[in-house]
Amino acid sequence: MSQEDATLEARLAEQEAFEPPESFVEQANVTDPGIYDEFEENWPECWERAADLLSWDESYDTVLDDGNEPFYEWFTGGELNASYNCLDRHVEDGAADREAIKWEGELGETRSYTYGELLEEVETFAATLRGLGVEEDDVVTLYLPMIPELPIAMLACARLGAPHSVVFAGFSADALATRMNSADSEFLVTCDGYYRRGDALDHLSKTNEGLDGVDHEVSDVVVVDRLGDDLDHSLADNQRDYDELVAEYDGESVEPVSRDAEDMLFLMYTSGTTGQPKGVKHTTGGYLAYTAWTSHAVLDLEPEDTYWCSADIGWITGHSYIVYGPLALGTTSVMYEGTPDYPDKDRLWEIVEREGVDVFYTAPTAIRAFMKWGSDYPEEHDLSSLRLLGTVGEPINPRAWKWYYKHIGDEECPIVDTWWQTETGGMMITTLPGVNTMKPGSAGPPLPGVDARVVNAQGEEVDAGQAGYVTVNKPWPGMLRTLYNNDERFLSEYWQEYSDKDADEWVYFPEDGAKIDDDGYITILGRVDDVINVSGHRLGTMEIESAVVGVDGIAEAAVVGGDHEVKGEAVYVYAIPEDDYEGNAELEERAREAVLDSIGPIAKPEDVIFTPELPKTRSGKIMRRLLEDIASGNELGNTSTLRNPEVVDDIAAQVETD
Ligand code: PRX
Repeated sequence: MSQEDATLEARLAEQEAFEPPESFVEQANVTDPGIYDEFEENWPECWERAADLLSWDESYDTVLDDGNEPFYEWFTGGELNASYNCLDRHVEDGAADREAIKWEGELGETRSYTYGELLEEVETFAATLRGLGVEEDDVVTLYLPMIPELPIAMLACARLGAPHSVVFAGFSADALATRMNSADSEFLVTCDGYYRRGDALDHLSKTNEGLDGVDHEVSDVVVVDRLGDDLDHSLADNQRDYDELVAEYDGESVEPVSRDAEDMLFLMYTSGTTGQPKGVKHTTGGYLAYTAWTSHAVLDLEPEDTYWCSADIGWITGHSYIVYGPLALGTTSVMYEGTPDYPDKDRLWEIVEREGVDVFYTAPTAIRAFMKWGSDYPEEHDLSSLRLLGTVGEPINPRAWKWYYKHIGDEECPIVDTWWQTETGGMMITTLPGVNTMKPGSAGPPLPGVDARVVNAQGEEVDAGQAGYVTVNKPWPGMLRTLYNNDERFLSEYWQEYSDKDADEWVYFPEDGAKIDDDGYITILGRVDDVINVSGHRLGTMEIESAVVGVDGIAEAAVVGGDHEVKGEAVYVYAIPEDDYEGNAELEERAREAVLDSIGPIAKPEDVIFTPELPKTRSGKIMRRLLEDIASGNELGNTSTLRNPEVVDDIAAQVETD
C-alpha cells in the first residue's frame, strides 16, 4: 500500500460520519429535511404521496382504515393492477423502447427486454396461464431461478389477479412441497435447470421430488427450458414446455384485471420461530405504493437510470427492489443469473462498467467477500457511472461499509443501509441519501412516516446508547396484512409482545434488537428470536433442528448461529447421538444431508458437533446463548447456573479441534 493510500485508510478508519456528496444532493429526488415533519404532521394522509406514484383505475376513498386493528387496510376503495403500473402505463407514456430488464446469464449470454417487449411477453404468458385455467385469486407457485421468465411470470400473475408464491430455487424439494401445500397452490412454473459456477444444475428432478410431497392435485406444471441440450429430461403428462405452450398464445392481449387495493398481490414464505414457514401476505395497493415510494426516495431511482440489485428474486428484496419498485417507476433493471466470482472475482464490476449502472444495491455478506478478494478486482474497472450504493439483509460492520464507500463508490456515492423485513414489504429504517448524514454501521433514522422506536422489555423507549428492541408503533402501507390462512399466528407472532389491547394500542414487533443514538440513528443488533441470518438469508433454527433430529441415530439436537467472517452468521449443529458418543463421520454426513434435503444448501452446517449432553439450565432448557458463544469463539460467561457445567469444556474443546 502506498503512503498516500495508507493515510487515506487511516483517515477513513477514524471517520464516524459522512455527508452526502454535493453532486448527489444536487440531483436527488428528496432533498428537503422538512419531509420528516411534513409526514409526521400529516399522518396518515402523507402516504398519499406514495399512492400518487401509481396509476389507479378507481381512486381510493380512505388512506388508512384502522377499524379492525391490527388488520389495517390501506387506500380502501381504490382499484389498480400491478402489471399495468409496471408496464402498460410506461408504454402508453411513450417509453415502449426504454429497456425494462437487462438480463445476463452466468455463461455470458444476454437477453434484454424493452418495456414494450416485456409487456408483450407478460400478456402472452398471462394468456397462457388463463388458458391453463388460472383464475383470479388462484395461487400460482413459481419455483424459478434468476431467469427472465421469473419476473415475466410474476407480472403475468399480477395481470390476472392471481397471487404468486415464489419459492427460492435454491430451496429443497421438501421446502417446495411445504409451501405448495400451505398455499393450496395447484399451478407451478419451474424449469429444467440452471447454471452455477458453470455447472448445469438439475432443477426438474428436484421439482418432481417436491411434487411427490404435495398433498393435493397439481393441475399444470409449466417447465422453462433453460439448459437446452445440457440436460436431458422428459416431461410428465401434466407438464408442458414453456416455449411450446406460449407459442399457442403468442400475440394475445390480456386486459389487466382491476384489483381492489387490499387484494393479495403475492405470498412470500419466510422463516419464523417455529418449524413451519410463515406465508406473508402482501396486497396490491399498499405494497406497490410503498415499494415505488421507497425506490424513489431511498434508491433515488429515475426512469433514465440503470439500476442493479444483486439479490435473488426468490427473496423479498428481489420482489420489492428488482421487480415491483423499479418497474413501477419505469427504470431499467439489471438482472444477473449467477455468482459474483464466476468466471472471476470481478464479474460484478465488469457488469457495472459495461451497463453503466447508476445505482447498486447488495448485501453486506457480498461486500465482505469483495473485501476479502481485494480491491484489485474493482480497480480493474471504471465504476464512475455509480451514483448511489445500498445494502440490505444484515448489519454491516463499519469496516465493510468504509471499504464499499471507498473502493466501489470512490467516496462519491452515498450509501443507504436499509433495514426492513419480508413482513414490512419495503425499507423502514435508513437514511435518505439526499438529506441525512451517514454513520457507518448504523442504518439511520426511521423513514418519514415510519414510527420505529427502540424500547425496553416494558415497551418504554430506551436512552441513547442503551440496547433494546425495535418496535413499529404506527402502521405503514407496505406492511403484511396477515399470515396466509392464519390470522391467529399473525397476531401472536407480531402483535402480542408490545400491544396494549385494552388501551387499543397496537405495536408491531419485528424481533430485532437495536440501539439508538442522540440523533435518533438506529443500529440494528440482530434477531432476538430463533432465527439466524446466514449471508443475509433468514433461516429458522427450529426448521434445521427438526431436520437433524429426524436422522436415525440422533437423539437430540440444538442449532445455533455462530459468527462468520463473510456470511455474518453460520449454522452450527450440536447433536447427541443415540449411542456411540464419539459420533462418526457417517452420522455427520447424514445430518448434513438431512439439512440439505429439508431446506437447501444455504442452510449447510458449518460444523456438526457430537456431544453426550447439551448444556442445560436447572429447569432443563438448552442454553443456546452458550452454544452460540462456543461457535463464535467468544469468551464463555458464568456457567455455574447450569445443571451440567462440565459438558461445556468438552464441547468447546471439540469445536477447537474440528
Ligand atoms: O434481522 C433483520 C435483518 O434481516 C431480517 C429480515 O430478514 P428477511 O425477512 O429475510 O428480509 C431481508 C431483506 C429485507 C431483519 O429482521 N436485516 C435486514 N436488513 C438489515 C438487517 N439487519 C441489519 N441491518 C439491515 N440493514
